[in-house]
Amino acid sequence: MITRFILIPAFVLSVFSCNEETAKVHELSSPDGQNKIKLELTNNNPKYSVSRGETEIITPSEMGFVFKDNDTLGNNFEITGIEETSKDETWEQVWGEKKQIRNHYNEMVVNLQEKSGKQRKLQLEFRAFDDGVAFRYVFPEQGIEDSIFIMDELTSFNLKDDGKAWWIPAYHEQRYENLFEASPVSELDTVHTPLTIESNSGLAISFHEADLEDYASMTLTNTSGNILKADLVPWADGVKVRTTNSFTTPWRTLQIGEEPIDLITSYLILNLNDPNTIDDTSWIEPVKYLGIWWGMHIGKYTFWEGPDHGASTKNAKEHIDYANQLRIDHLLIEGWNKGWTPDWYQNAMHQFSFTDATDDFDLKEVTDYAAENGVQIIGYHETGSNIDNYLQQIDSAFALYNKMGIRDVKIGHVGSMLNMKEWHHGQFGVNYFRYVLKKAAEYNLTVLFHEPIKDTGERRTYPNMMAREGARGIEYNAWSEGNPPDHVTILPFTRFLAGPMDFTAGILDVEISQGYPGRRVHSTSAKQLALLVTVYSPIQMLADLPENYVGKPEFQFLKDVPIDWADTKILNGEIGDYITTVRKDIDSDDWYLGSITDENARDLEISLSFLDDDAKYEAQIYADAEGTGLDNNPEKVEITSREVTASDSLTLELGASGGTAIRFKKI
Ligand code: NOJ
Repeated sequence: MITRFILIPAFVLSVFSCNEETAKVHELSSPDGQNKIKLELTNNNPKYSVSRGETEIITPSEMGFVFKDNDTLGNNFEITGIEETSKDETWEQVWGEKKQIRNHYNEMVVNLQEKSGKQRKLQLEFRAFDDGVAFRYVFPEQGIEDSIFIMDELTSFNLKDDGKAWWIPAYHEQRYENLFEASPVSELDTVHTPLTIESNSGLAISFHEADLEDYASMTLTNTSGNILKADLVPWADGVKVRTTNSFTTPWRTLQIGEEPIDLITSYLILNLNDPNTIDDTSWIEPVKYLGIWWGMHIGKYTFWEGPDHGASTKNAKEHIDYANQLRIDHLLIEGWNKGWTPDWYQNAMHQFSFTDATDDFDLKEVTDYAAENGVQIIGYHETGSNIDNYLQQIDSAFALYNKMGIRDVKIGHVGSMLNMKEWHHGQFGVNYFRYVLKKAAEYNLTVLFHEPIKDTGERRTYPNMMAREGARGIEYNAWSEGNPPDHVTILPFTRFLAGPMDFTAGILDVEISQGYPGRRVHSTSAKQLALLVTVYSPIQMLADLPENYVGKPEFQFLKDVPIDWADTKILNGEIGDYITTVRKDIDSDDWYLGSITDENARDLEISLSFLDDDAKYEAQIYADAEGTGLDNNPEKVEITSREVTASDSLTLELGASGGTAIRFKKI
């Protein structure tokens, strides 16, 4: 729904002389006047800078490209025109953490042309929002017949102040699945985005990109001091981006908040993507699901055929019975197809079939049985990063799911390199993931990517793009030293800024009674409940073995918690310490709260002023029982209930690595 739209050509500059331009600074402000981008030509070189209020954030920084043969586009420009426009619209998400999103910005498009030589043109598009700024390059069609090879993008971010950066390393064989670390910006090497920084200026900022299409993803590398430079992930032959005629880069985004929690309710990344292109979205629905999944990770079942095969027809039917009993209407089944072996995860062009079931599994019998019991099966494709093999079968694989009535498909890409040679986040990977997403839309299938390219807001354009992994999920607790207690207090300020994550929380048996010795989830069970609110995803797994939910009163919260929201607010939080999130159900007047802490127990006082005035609510509270913490009775959840209104406040008592989950039911 568009509520307001303004497009005002403000002024267009004609050609300037070089001397006039050298002195001239072109400034763009956000609608509230706080965030500013300035562009100037210094020695024919475009440089931009960013500030908020009186605080300088980015001092004049490099822009431009290097094409093959050391051909630089960026140091010989004059400005041929500038256009300014504004936009203020409100649009609706098909599903999301907030229904109505306001897209309100001022825009400045600067037209540049080389003054001599090839006289090539380049456009710089800048947008200033109240929650940050963004810019991108448009290299328009201009009769260039040869292929274009981008060898480097010169974009730099010269940070005025150092700060505490929360980062994961780029070019790592585990892709984005690393624990975040905090270091001064000045000590960074090459890191992935979103890169969130608590600046010494007092502001919170996060670098990322939006609308990443047919281009390499951007990592950031420290070139000296506080200077971060775009480092595009290359193809195997070293070229960063290959294209013809023209290109448009993704938006380079800088979300800006007075404090870190402001970053979480910024919708700038989504606003920089194109509107929904899928006319009929009736087949796209958020889902909550159980799985034949955790059992494989903790070693109870195997992915491959054998006596403990998880995806046998018999076990699948038992899981459908559990889903029916627990009233959870979706079930993921992994390992149902031919090709799984104990070495399946090795990056070795492993051959999976996406249409042939294992001998002990009958897909039709299972999907029929599921349908009779009101359960939908979620399909699974593990490509093992053998993209050639997957793309050869993708049409028949998707057609099979259509035939079986399957509407959602999880697609995995375990392996350090796609086709054993390309990064998941280079242009090859970017194009591959976009191709699969569009192909799935043709088959009315929603997509859940594991080992994905990072999210840059594609869900606005293709709302069948539900969620992705792209960080260390809960599975690491099953078979490694696990995720420390603060991991989930860092993710909301970093990885989750990109978009929904399939984190797969909801483990009640946190000590993993049927798992590998010494492995456990480093959390209390109450924190696992709270995570269903903290972690936003339209496809939420209740990850524990279904038998661990049977007869547990706290399962009621997992059953009640919605998967689609009208609104989201962050009540408090510090990166790596704690965070309290509240979300309003899309289908009722109920609010839900999730509050989590790191290894330190803490009490948090919260105001309930987010609730509707003049209304009463029953607060159904699921908290760490007294004395409960990471190492002490972590599974004990105390359930209480009390009547509250918007003028009340509550003290949440969180145990070490604990949490509180609350349903505020309007009465
Ligand atoms: C890694 C994924 O994250 C996990 O969810 C999946 O079960 C395994 N790969 C097997 O494909």
